[in-house]
Amino acid sequence: MFHPILLLLGFWYVLPAYVANGFAVFGKFIKSRHPIDRGRLLGDGQPLLGPGKTWEGFIIGFLSGVVIGLLQIVTAPFLLSIIVQYVYLPPELVPIVLMTIPLVILVALGALVGDLIGSFIKRRLLIARGRPAPLLDQLDFLIMAMLLGALITPIHWILAIFLLIVTPVLHLLANVIGYLLRLKQEPW
Ligand code: CTP
Ligand code: MG
Repeated sequence: MFHPILLLLGFWYVLPAYVANGFAVFGKFIKSRHPIDRGRLLGDGQPLLGPGKTWEGFIIGFLSGVVIGLLQIVTAPFLLSIIVQYVYLPPELVPIVLMTIPLVILVALGALVGDLIGSFIKRRLLIARGRPAPLLDQLDFLIMAMLLGALITPIHWILAIFLLIVTPVLHLLANVIGYLLRLKQEPW
């Protein structure tokens, strides 16, 4: 076992995914928007993905996630030097701190693809665009980010479990704050 404070490295690993997922929302401020599914309906009469998934959101989210990831790569040696001063860092966690450009790209891409898969599943379950799907809404992007990221550097399983537990809580907290600040219509 490693020091519990190192659980926070889970956030470091998926930060490009959190940012990609959060910034995709800015797709809605672009005037001419292009739904990824081009309005296509499937046999069940429901949209393939729905009008909430646009190329604009996808690209803004992806680029934002990659920019954050590049900043992380640049600052990683500094973070590493601080960590090793205070706690024992198991060698298997070192690549998670340092990251690489392919890792950052796959984690950001995974978040956006996971979000699309989440919408695909919601439409098949007849959940309308924008209606909540508890856990699916909060975890689709995270799970896919970790899976694609694992192609380059798998996240430690303890960090993965930590993220799966805390991400829905953080998501809810962020939405309640957005609601109190009147940025959001509903507190979920
Ligand atoms: N968004 C976008 N393109 C994406 C993802 C998000 O344009 N690839 C924008 C859309 O305006 C979307 C908003 O961000 O409505 C919020 O994203 P999200 O909650 O993921 O979409 P929903 O509208 O809730 O749709 P769904 O029910 O399919 O999740
Ligand atoms: Mg939504």
